[in-house]
Parts: sequence; C-alpha cells; structure tokens
Amino acid sequence: MDEQIKTRVALLRNELNRHNHNYYVLNAPEISDREFDMMMKELEALEHDHPELDDPLSPTHRVGSDINKAFTQFKHKQPMLSLSNTYSVAEVDEWVDRVKSGLMGEEFEIVGEMKYDGTSISLTYINGRLERAVTRGDGERGDVVTDNVKTIRSIPLQLQGEGYPEEFEIRGEIVLPWKEFDRLNAEREFNEEPLFANPRNAASGTLKMQNSAEVAKRGLDAVFYYLLGENLPFDTHHENMEAARSWGFKVAPVMELLNGIEAVDRFISHWDTARKELPVATDGLVFKVNSLRQQLNLGYTAKSPRWAIAYKFQAERALTRLKEVSFEVGRTGIITPVANLEPVLLSGTIVKRASLHNEDIIRNLDIHDHDMLYVEKGGEIIPKITGVDEAAREPGAEPVEFVKECPVCGAKLVRVEGEAAWMCPDKYKCVPQICGRIEHFVGRRMMNIDGVGEEMVALLYRNGWVTDIADLYNLERHREEMITLPGIGPRTVSRILEGVEESKKVPFERVVYALSIPYVGETGAKKLARSVRDIDTLMSASVEQLTAIEDIGPRIAESIHQFFDEPLNRDVVARLRAAGVTMSVPEDEESGRSDKLAGKTIVISGTFSRHSRDEYKEMIESNGGKNAGSISKKTDFILAGENMGPSKKEKAVSLGIPMLNEEEFLAMINDNQ
Ligand code: IVH
Repeated sequence: MDEQIKTRVALLRNELNRHNHNYYVLNAPEISDREFDMMMKELEALEHDHPELDDPLSPTHRVGSDINKAFTQFKHKQPMLSLSNTYSVAEVDEWVDRVKSGLMGEEFEIVGEMKYDGTSISLTYINGRLERAVTRGDGERGDVVTDNVKTIRSIPLQLQGEGYPEEFEIRGEIVLPWKEFDRLNAEREFNEEPLFANPRNAASGTLKMQNSAEVAKRGLDAVFYYLLGENLPFDTHHENMEAARSWGFKVAPVMELLNGIEAVDRFISHWDTARKELPVATDGLVFKVNSLRQQLNLGYTAKSPRWAIAYKFQAERALTRLKEVSFEVGRTGIITPVANLEPVLLSGTIVKRASLHNEDIIRNLDIHDHDMLYVEKGGEIIPKITGVDEAAREPGAEPVEFVKECPVCGAKLVRVEGEAAWMCPDKYKCVPQICGRIEHFVGRRMMNIDGVGEEMVALLYRNGWVTDIADLYNLERHREEMITLPGIGPRTVSRILEGVEESKKVPFERVVYALSIPYVGETGAKKLARSVRDIDTLMSASVEQLTAIEDIGPRIAESIHQFFDEPLNRDVVARLRAAGVTMSVPEDEESGRSDKLAGKTIVISGTFSRHSRDEYKEMIESNGGKNAGSISKKTDFILAGENMGPSKKEKAVSLGIPMLNEEEFLAMINDNQ
C-alpha cells in the first residue's frame, strides 16, 4: 500500500471533518463550498480506487445509502427518562426549594437551558468514533438509526480535541430548523403530499425513514444537552458540556449558570418571548442541578430525575367554529365525544379535531351547535377545547346532546358507575370494541405481533378469520386466502404469522395486560402476574384475594373478577392456552420472597438499567434484607449501578465493602440453591 495515499486520505478526512464542523456547528466556514467539494471529490476518487481504505465513518458516507432496511433495537444502558413538567413559575420555585432541602441546605448551582422540541437521540462514542445512534423508543429500548444520524452534518463522526472518555454516551435532540421545516412543507405541498404538522413530527418521521439518502436531503440538525458515562472529565454538567463542545458537538448554545430563585425567574421571563426568535422550535426551558454529585444525591423518581425540571411555555390559543360533535367507541366501550372543527392553525399545527372527553365537559363548557370554540395546545400535541365565545353563538342554536345509543351498534348506552363516562354494553357484538381489543392485544408492549395494525385487524375481522384474540393463533389455516387479498403479499402474511408464533414466548405479565381486562393497565398487570404467577390462580381469585395484592384496589379487583366470570373470556383464555401462549411465570424466576438477604444491610448507589431503584429496594426487603441510605461499617454490600458517586466509591473501598453490580445482585437473589 502506498503510504502517501494513506496519508493523503487521512488528511482529507481530517480536513473535511474540520470544515464540516466549522460550517455546521460553528457557522464559520473557512473555505468556499467549491473548495470543500473539490476535497470531497478527491477523497471519493481515492476511496473508489482503494476500497481497502474504506471506513464507514469517512465523511464521504454522510450522503446516506438507499438500502431499505428495518431498524434493529438496542436496550439503553440507562433508560431515557422524561422530565417532570410544569407550566408555572411558582412550581419551578418550589422545585428549587425542594432541591435545597434535598441537599440539606448545601449550596448549589442551577443550569438553565432551552427545551428543544424535536426527537431525542442517544449517541455512543468509543475511542472518539461514533459507535451507534439510538432513538428514545419506549425509554428502555430504542431503534438503532446510526446510518440516518450519520447524514446529519453537525454530528461529529470522529471527535476532535482531547479528554473524552474511552466510551461515553451523549444525549440530545434531533431537530428540524424552522427554515428547513418550511422548505420541506412547501415542497410537499407542491407535490401534493400530506404536510407535517410541526417540526417535531417532521424530525421524528425523517429519522425513522428507511432510506438514509432521503434523510440526508431533509436538513436535520442536532443539539446536545446531556453526557453520560464513567470517567466524565468534570464534576459539573456545565463543564462537561463545554468539554463536549470542544470535542466537536453542537452543544445547546443557551446554557446559563443561575444562582438562586431570582436568576431562575429572570431566565424564564427573558426566554418566554425571546425564544420566538430562535431558529429551532422549543417548547419550554429545562433547569438542572449543575453538580453531578448533587444530581446523584437527589436521584430519580420512577419516571424522572429529581435534579431537573422542565418549565413549559404557555400554550397558544385559537378560536374556531364547531362543525359537529361526533361520538367514537373505544376498545373498552367508552364513548368519546369529539369536536370536529373548522381547520385552524395553532402553534404550527393545523387543528381539525379535539376530544371533548365526556358528557360533563360538554355540559360545563355549555357547548351549542356551531359554537365558536377556544382551542389550546398544551405542552403536548393534543389540542384541548378550553372555552366558548358565547357572544358569537348563532341565534336559536341548541345545546349539544350526548348520544343515548351506541353510534356503531345501536345498543342503549349505560353510565359507568362513579364516572362521567357512557359505555356501550355490547362488548362482544360491537365491532370497534372487538377490533380495539385485537389491536391492543397485538400492540408492541403487549404481544408485539408485527404487521397487524388497525387496517389489518379490520380486514381480518371482516373476513371472519379473527373475531377475537384467540383466533389469531388459528390464522395459519387462512394463509393462502390471506395472500389473495389485494395489497397483501406473501411476505406480509409470513411476517404476521411469524409474529403470532413468536408471541407465544411473551412473558405472562404482558399476556395479562394484553387480555384487555378493564382497569388493568401495564403496571397492574405486572403486579398481578408476579403475585398470582399463573392464569388459573388469577381466574379463580376472589375479590378479597385480589385486593390483597399491592396496588390492586376494589374497583380493579371487581373488574378482574367480572371479566373471568364471563364464559366468553374463559373460553378465549382456554384457546390461548391450547395455542401455547405463556400462562404462567417460570418456576425459576425471582419468586419475590425469600430470606436470602436476612440480616444484611445493603446500600443502593448509582443508576440502573434492569430495574428501577425502587424495585431494587423492594427486592431487598422482600428477600429479608435492609436497605440503608449511607455507607458505614455495618454495610454488608453495595448494590452499585452506573455513575456511582466518587465519594461513595472511595468510602466503600476504604471500608473494604464489596460492590455488586445489578447482574450479580439478581443472580444472588434468584439463586435457587
Ligand atoms: S435533559 C434525564 N435537556 O425533553 C433527563 N432534555 O421530557 C435528560 N429535551 O426526552 C433530559 N431539551 O428529549 C434535557 N435541554 C434539555 C432538553 C431535553 C429537550 C427533551 C428530551 C427529553 C424530554 C424530557
């Protein structure tokens, strides 16, 4: 190999990376576009002639590829949590006070940042090279979108500078700047394609495109705001982010150190209006405790860190005319009234429909036919009707009446006890309820049967092949007929059937959730499954036995009891069981209770990926151990997660206390010897 060529290729790559950074991150190009293109062409030619020098991270690969492929999934080392939200300055102030008392009065600094309204991303770098990019997904696992992310020019493929850890993760937001968003929508309008509602949808839609060459054309950008890993260079968030900036990342430009409530309040009032001038969409501000040690001390609730809070900007409001109220039937039979509106533009989205939730809301707002309604968009995308302009009411307009019969099957509606809701009682005849249950059953967090969405369920139902969830396991016998349907190829059919087969391995707790027992949500199903451990025990449990289970109140217990009283449901369960669906928790799985940790004092420290901190606490206690807050000579061992505080680590080492990671701990309590 000609050493000169090797050196030239390396030099070109370095230079191109540097100029990319100058252009896309610093907004300060040093060379003309033409000079840049010339260098790129030279590199392309060299790589073409010397394929052995190819490197997937070469700047020539930023154009993407047009290979279509599905995404694989990756489990986040640490779950991607959300932030607790507030719309009120007073609540931000209360958070500052909570932090203060949480830190026992210790001094602390706060960092104020923008809350970018895009789609979150996690990048992992190993030895300074981009290893993978993963979306948030459900927080636990996301899609690997590395090829698409590589097309974003401001994201460094190879880090510059020094001092970055051998391996670390950086999290941020993929955004579509307003300018690109407008350009994209103009182009779509011209091509008569549906428009994107807002930059966030456009960004997340683009990131999930199969064809990375298309992604490359969309003009995505990324801003980073959070660094994770062991051996981060500094003990404060702010310094670490500045370091990340020096490695080439486009770190959020607004990152202000704030001391005390007054500074926080000033920051809010400034950005409340100033944010409108920013080139990217923001939906609020984020406040974080600066010191990583203090962050660790404050810790996390089940859903979000205690060391941070998001302040959301007040929603914008629009006034528009009600065309009509329609009534929709959901999986549980509950009737939802929906306001169909004259389309109106609200915070960048065109709103045509808004849920009115229930009869009481219609009454309280006193909505009449064709009223002018106020629509607001809260922090979330969902528009909400907040009022009526009575002065604009048409003379003689009648108040909107809630339907008395099911708009689909005609059954007389019944009022749900203790609630404002009306329900269609014909659970086993009313089509949207039947189809809704099947859609729920196949969902990703339930049985995860790929390729069966709303339309497919309707199709399978209409043909009489799937009329309840258990029929899915008989689909194989309709394979040939399915293939003959328009628009469905043998590949789709195989994918569905494979999904059905795979679903038999889904753990029992998800099966319980998938059954659509009224009031039994994901968490409830988990608790039930772990407690009863098999379907027979669940089916025969009395209301008293059920209420004895943690978090299962009388209403849920009653609902479970009624559900299994129904012969049709018992029949479905029997057929699911016969098909081979998992109907119990395996014998060897954490049985929950033991005295394996009897007499042991254990300290939990750091962050975990397999279970939450609270779950570990529960496990320690249910196995007879004692969970203590701080390390002392009495500590038997430490359940050590990631990012364990340096001072705790030091103390543990000096006292010679063993540290177990999650896997070791789980192995210890699950050990059946
Ligand atoms: S920090 C542990 N900082 O908001 C929490 N998040 O509701 C780490 N977001 O999923 C997130 N701007 O997608 C953080 N400056 C910022 C942010 C930000 C936008 C998003 C992010 C996250 C969601 C939290």
